[in-house]
Amino acid sequence: MSEALAIEAHGLEKSYGSTRALDGLDLEVPAGTILGMLGPNGAGKTTTVRVLTTLLRPDRGSARVAGYDLASQAGQVRRRIGLTGQYAALDEYLTGRANLIMIGRLGKLSARAARARATELLDRFDLSGAADRGVKTYSGGMRRRLDLAASLITRPQVLFLDEPTTGLDLPSRIATWESVRELAADGTTVLLTTQHLDEADQLANRVAVVDRGRVIAEGTPAELKAKVGGERIRLTVSAGSSVAAAVSVLARQATEPPRADSGGRTVDAPVTGAARRLPELVRDLDAAGVLLDDLAIRHPSLDDVFLTLTGHLAGPEVNGGN
Ligand SMILES: Nc1ncnc2c1ncn2[C@@H]1O[C@H](COP(=O)(O)OP(=O)(O)O)[C@@H](O)[C@H]1O
Ligand SMILES: [Mg+2]
Repeated sequence: MSEALAIEAHGLEKSYGSTRALDGLDLEVPAGTILGMLGPNGAGKTTTVRVLTTLLRPDRGSARVAGYDLASQAGQVRRRIGLTGQYAALDEYLTGRANLIMIGRLGKLSARAARARATELLDRFDLSGAADRGVKTYSGGMRRRLDLAASLITRPQVLFLDEPTTGLDLPSRIATWESVRELAADGTTVLLTTQHLDEADQLANRVAVVDRGRVIAEGTPAELKAKVGGERIRLTVSAGSSVAAAVSVLARQATEPPRADSGGRTVDAPVTGAARRLPELVRDLDAAGVLLDDLAIRHPSLDDVFLTLTGHLAGPEVNGGN
C-alpha cells in the first residue's frame, strides 16, 4: 500500500435491501489533495462517506484511510479523520465557543488546549463576533461554518465534507471554499462531495464522477471538462433563414459537427474559446444571410457531464428502468 495515498478504496459494495448504493466503488486520493466526488442525488456519495468514516460497514471491498485498514483498524482511522454534516453534535443552547470547547474535550484535548483551539477556529471561520451567542441564534451559513470548525478541533489528517455548501448562499459558499483551500494548504487531505460541477471546478485538484455506486471517470477538472467538450455555442435560426447555412458556418468554428434539436431551428456545437470566436462567427453568419433569434454560449453543466460520460441523464428516477 502506498503511503502517499490518504484514501484507498477497492471494490466497495453496499446494498440497502434491494437498492445497490455502492456497486464496486474504487477510489485513490493522494495525501494533501482535495478530491471532489461529483454525482447526482442518489449516486452513492453519502454512503461512500459513511463507509470511509467507519459509520457504516460495507458488504464487500476494502479501504485504507490515513494508512489504516477500515475493517481491522477502525479506531486508528477514527482518530485521524474529521467529518462534517453532523449537526446533531452541536448543542443549540450552548454558545459557539462552548460547543467547540466541549467537542475538543471529548476529543481528549486539555481544557486549555481546547479553549485555545476554539478561539483560533472561531477566528478562522469568521465567527469571533458571534462566539459567545447561543447557536440557536445562528444563521444557516454560520451553523455550517461552526460545524466545519467542530470537525477540525483535533486537526484531522483527512477531512470528509458531505455536500458542505448545499443550501448556502453564495457569500457563505465562497467563505467555505476559502476555508477548505486553507486546510489543504496546511496539508489536510479533503474529500468533499458535491452535485455541482462549478464547486468541484473551484475547489478540487482531482474529481471522481460517481454514478450508480461506481466511479465512472476520474481526473483533474480540466481533463473532465475536456471529455465533456467544454463550451458550446447555440444558435436559434430565424424562420425564413437557412438552418443548413447556419450549420455549415458554425461547423467552421466547432470541434465536432453541430447538432440540430428536434424542433429543427436550434443548432448547437462545442467551440473552444467560444467568446473569442464569436465576432468571426457573427460576420460569417451575416455574410451567409442567416438571421438569428438567439445566440448563447453554454458552459458544461453536470447534466452535460453525465450525458457525455454515461449516455443517460443524471438522477435515479430517470434511469430506474434498468
Ligand atoms: N438508509 C437507507 N435506506 C435505504 N436506502 C438508502 C439509505 N441510504 C441511502 N439509500 C439509497 O442508496 C442510494 C445511494 O444513496 P446516497 O449514498 O445517499 O447517495 P447520494 O449521497 O449520492 O445522494 C440511493 O438510491 C438511496 O436512496
Ligand atoms: Mg448525499
